[in-house]
Amino acid sequence: MKSAKFVVATLVTLAVVAAMVGCQPVTPSAPAEQEQQQPATQAAEPTQAPTKKVYTYRDMVVGFIQTGSEGGWRAANTASFRETAAELGIQLKFYDAQNKMENQIAAFRQFIQDPEVNVIILAALETTGWEEVLQEAKDAGKVVVLEDRRIDAPDTLYATYIGSDFVEEGRKAAEAMCELLKDSPKKNVVELVGNVGSSAAKDRGQGFREKMVECGIEIIKSQTGNWNATEGKAVMEAWLKETTDIQGLFAQNDEMGLGAVEAIKEAGLVPGQDIKIVTVDATAGAFRALIAGEINVTVECNPLLAPQVYEAALKALNGEEMPKWIPSQEGIFYASQGAEELQAILATRKY
Ligand code: AHR
Repeated sequence: MKSAKFVVATLVTLAVVAAMVGCQPVTPSAPAEQEQQQPATQAAEPTQAPTKKVYTYRDMVVGFIQTGSEGGWRAANTASFRETAAELGIQLKFYDAQNKMENQIAAFRQFIQDPEVNVIILAALETTGWEEVLQEAKDAGKVVVLEDRRIDAPDTLYATYIGSDFVEEGRKAAEAMCELLKDSPKKNVVELVGNVGSSAAKDRGQGFREKMVECGIEIIKSQTGNWNATEGKAVMEAWLKETTDIQGLFAQNDEMGLGAVEAIKEAGLVPGQDIKIVTVDATAGAFRALIAGEINVTVECNPLLAPQVYEAALKALNGEEMPKWIPSQEGIFYASQGAEELQAILATRKY
């Protein structure tokens, strides 16, 4: 009896101590029904979370930073973005940087500050110098899509890049030049380069050099013509004053090539015959020169990128991941295709 009293007293003491230190007294297990009800009440919570906004083109406000307006290719590129924005109901804030890197950077920062802008599209003049503003854009929650020109920056700082395989364009140009000069004992080629810091200029130059070694082409002169006809002509004029021992011209775009054609004619030579000419872009101006036999080959570079770029930007706004580079499909055109065929192609082209 005495020991039974002792056991009861001990149990009471333990219960009090347990309550004081905040422990839960051991209770009999709850009915199975109750155990199931508790998680059911908790699971109901996520359905009350706010629904995610689904963006449409009409919600897109795009800050577009163009390089400048250096020629036919760029004009077609700009028109593609303006016209497609109007068709899709996208609000476009367009900025022409007049081929100045500092203007591009300033415009980028302005679009970051602009509370309306949710997408920034960039055609970068130079490959370098972008990391800081890209990080600022990321911190501000802006979607960045690169068009036309690639850059050297971590690809985590932008959604995607849509543009040409410029290295491949350079390879195609060299293969075409090799074919044009295959029977020529000498293969002295001059190269008109775009703006030297751009991906288009660097990569076309790289691709051309990769392939030209296969047929013994030698680049005897290489200089920038900054993508425009006036400078292309001036550089070619200066070269022809130094030497006429030139069998080929690789112009990294049509504009510079067309300017050089004028210089070659003024020097009393026949473009396309005395000097074989390969250009890049395949604009209407180059088609007319192909038909006239003054340019031998033009490698296509597609400027009509807006539909793809806007689609990618919309996907990024809606949180979709996509490849970091979406290359555009491109062809090549030869004077040897003949005037009739080239006229028919020209009639269908948009730039
Ligand atoms: O980046 C594309 C290049 O830029 C085009 O080949 C040239 O014409 C333009 O200015």
